[in-house]
Amino acid sequence: MLKRCFSFCKTGKHSRVCTIVGSQWGDEGKGKLVDILAENFDVVARYNGGANAGHTVIVDGKKFGFHLLPCGVLYQKTQNIIGNGVVLHLPSLFEEIKQVEDAGYECRNRIFISDRAHLVTSVHLEADGAQETSRGDKSIGTTKKGIGPTYMTKMMRSGLRVGDLRHWESFKEKYHRLADFFEKAYEFKVDREKEIDEFGTYKEQIQSMITDSIWKVNQDLQEGKRLICEGANALMLDIDFGSYPYVTSSSTGTAGVMSGLGIPPNKLETVIGVVKAYTTRVGAGPFPTEVLGEVGDHIQNVGKEYGVTTGRKRRCGWLDLNVVKYTSMINGYTSINITKLDVLDQLEEIQIAVGYKLHGKKLQSMPSNLEDLSQVEVEYETLKGWKSDITQCKQWKDLPPEAKAYLDRISQILGLPVTWVGTGPTRENMLLNPNYS
Ligand code: GDP
Ligand code: IMO
Ligand code: MG
Repeated sequence: MLKRCFSFCKTGKHSRVCTIVGSQWGDEGKGKLVDILAENFDVVARYNGGANAGHTVIVDGKKFGFHLLPCGVLYQKTQNIIGNGVVLHLPSLFEEIKQVEDAGYECRNRIFISDRAHLVTSVHLEADGAQETSRGDKSIGTTKKGIGPTYMTKMMRSGLRVGDLRHWESFKEKYHRLADFFEKAYEFKVDREKEIDEFGTYKEQIQSMITDSIWKVNQDLQEGKRLICEGANALMLDIDFGSYPYVTSSSTGTAGVMSGLGIPPNKLETVIGVVKAYTTRVGAGPFPTEVLGEVGDHIQNVGKEYGVTTGRKRRCGWLDLNVVKYTSMINGYTSINITKLDVLDQLEEIQIAVGYKLHGKKLQSMPSNLEDLSQVEVEYETLKGWKSDITQCKQWKDLPPEAKAYLDRISQILGLPVTWVGTGPTRENMLLNPNYS
């Protein structure tokens, strides 16, 4: 049997390479953990997705919502890479840079944009809307950030890449070809001249940020620099492994680190799966543990479950360990971070989904198709709530016994250590498991 023969730090605190990934349907609290760990890392790199992501970081009472910028951007010594696997909407990037600069953080000279990242244009944004409309009542509920169409043109080999901006005449030709294709397919028109002018301005502004990120990241590792790979979206939204077609269009898990940054697999060390203490989902698609009614509304209100990118209400339900087991199998978590445990503070009883049955037969994994996923019968375990305010807990040992029992049971079922627990939204509301510190 293969045995992992390198040693690694399970908390990520001392790892050379630490990957942070969403284990459910997104919004698990990845941004917060990246921000906390980034203090002691040299580089933070986004490897997938685009402005569909919304990662919240709260520092000194100020809330930042990052869509494209990696969450290491608030530390002056941390470099931030937007990898080749990301799809980049330049107007959104500059809005974010402004947000960070207005708050007093200089960041432009610490942002490195892959020359191979694909550009999101207004053509892709329009096409996203048109595709959603054409799906009618089967619409995915995308964020309308042009994600699907941009990965589509990447795969069709007709996309525009950041590095293309350096070859202006052929960039314009490619842009027109792309616009011709979508304008014809979906019968819309964009203001091409206006957008080309805008690209002309952005190309000057990002000149110094454009980087051969693949060489840079591998060179950084060779020089002993420490790297966080920041996942966007989550594995149940992965194009291959997620609840297709209600997914996003990128590789959101550890496989995406390799294709989206160009790091070889033997360089990956710690992989922390971020697991919300319950489950949420934005947009349409099956959700086996969804809880409608009083308890679902309670979690939604207490957890302030609104999308960072679209402001939509998130659907809420119980923690689904069948999902997390599946995503752990694929992502290879070395440990997990349970987040938002405090949101369950007031509940008398808490349920955890431990397995699925289909037509009376126990399933070993996740069904591959929607028809089956929407019909599964969920098996639950019921645990006792702790009925106290855990936001005040300063250390692991301060957690009430019932909360510890909840964490222990999750750890036992998944066969994984819980190294971090979120007890509130701020940097300070994160407890480190003393067994692994
Ligand atoms: P991400 O996309 O995975 O980074 O997560 P989001 O930022 O979209 O959503 C997580 C939300 O939960 C944000 O509003 C965070 O501020 C908040 N949050 C993160 N961890 C905790 C926690 O432990 N407790 C509470 N109450 N809120 C948290
Ligand atoms: P973070 O990184 C939650 C969902 C959308 C929609 C589907 C496809 O903040 O966890 P897209 O615009 O990507 O084509 O939409 O995927 N989605 C997310 N849901 N958190 C995210 O990112 C998401 N990124 C995409 O709501 O259902
Ligand atoms: Mg989010």
